[in-house]
Amino acid sequence: MTDEALGRVALVTGGSRGIGRAIAEALGKRGVKVAINWVTNELAAQKTLEEVRAGGGDGATYQADVASEREVGKMVTAVESDLGPIDMLVTSAGIMEAGGYQQLDLETFQQVMRVNVEGTFLPVMAVKDGMIARGRGSIVCISSIAGLRSRPRVIAYSTSKAAVIGFVRSCAGAFGPNVRVNGIAPGLIRTDMTESMDPDVLAGMEQEAFVKRLGVPSDISAAVLFLLSDGAGFISGQTFVVDGGRVTLP
Ligand SMILES: NC(=O)c1ccc[n+]([C@@H]2O[C@H](COP(=O)([O-])OP(=O)(O)OC[C@H]3O[C@@H](n4cnc5c(N)ncnc54)[C@H](OP(=O)(O)O)[C@@H]3O)[C@@H](O)[C@H]2O)c1
Repeated sequence: MTDEALGRVALVTGGSRGIGRAIAEALGKRGVKVAINWVTNELAAQKTLEEVRAGGGDGATYQADVASEREVGKMVTAVESDLGPIDMLVTSAGIMEAGGYQQLDLETFQQVMRVNVEGTFLPVMAVKDGMIARGRGSIVCISSIAGLRSRPRVIAYSTSKAAVIGFVRSCAGAFGPNVRVNGIAPGLIRTDMTESMDPDVLAGMEQEAFVKRLGVPSDISAAVLFLLSDGAGFISGQTFVVDGGRVTLP
C-alpha cells in the first residue's frame, strides 16, 4: 500500500479514543491529514492529535455530535475548509447500553440507534456527494460482531450494529463505481467501552478466540487501512469480521 493510494484527508468520527484513535494514528503515519472527531472528551481528542503528530502526521480536532445533522454538516464544512476535500471517512463513534434487557426502555434504545445508526448515516451522507463528484472516495463504517450474533445483554447495540451492515451494503451499491463503502465487525477490543466488563467473561472470550487473545485497537486500524486503500479496490459493500475467530462459534 502506497501513501498515495490512501489519499490525503480522512475524517474519523469517534477519533478521540479507543479504536478511532488507533485509526487516526495509523492514518497519520501514512501522511494522511486526519480530522479527529469528538463529542465530550476534548482532552482525549487533543491526545490523539499529539499521537498523530508524534508519528509524523498532522490534522485537527472537531467537536460534533454525530447524531446531529447540523453539527455533522458544520464539521464536514470546517474539515474541508481547513484540511481539504475528504477522501476517506471512518465512522467509529459509538455507544453501548448498560444493563440487561430488563432495563432496556424505548429512550435507551432510541439513544443507541441515534448515535450508532443515525451517527453513521449522517457523516456518510455529508461526504458522499463530494466523493462521487471527485470520482474518488473510500468509507469504512465500524459495526460489530454483535450485529451478527445474538447479544441478549445488549439488544439495542446489537440491533444498531446489524443496521450498519445493511447500510454499508446498500450505500456501496448506491455510491459506486468510484466510491467504495465497507464495514468492519470487530470482536472484543480492549478500550474504554469494554474496560468495565467482568474479568471472567473476558477470560472466557480470550479462550474462545482461535488466536487465544483479546483484540487491541491496532488490530482494527490495520484492517481499516487496508479497506481504505486502493489495494482493496475490488472490495465494496462488505463487512469484514476482525475478531480472532470468535464469530464462527455458535
Ligand atoms: N471495543 C470493542 O470491543 C468494540 C467491538 C466491536 C465494535 N466496536 C465499535 O467500535 C467503535 C469504537 O468503539 P471503542 O471501543 O473505541 O469505544 P470507546 O473507547 O468508548 O470510544 C468511543 C468513541 O466514540 C465517540 N462518541 C460517542 N458518542 C459520540 C457522539 N454522539 N458523537 C461523536 N462521537 C461520539 C467518543 O467520543 P468522546 O471521547 O468525545 O466521548 C469516543 O471517541 C464503536 O462504534 C463500537 O461500537 C467496539
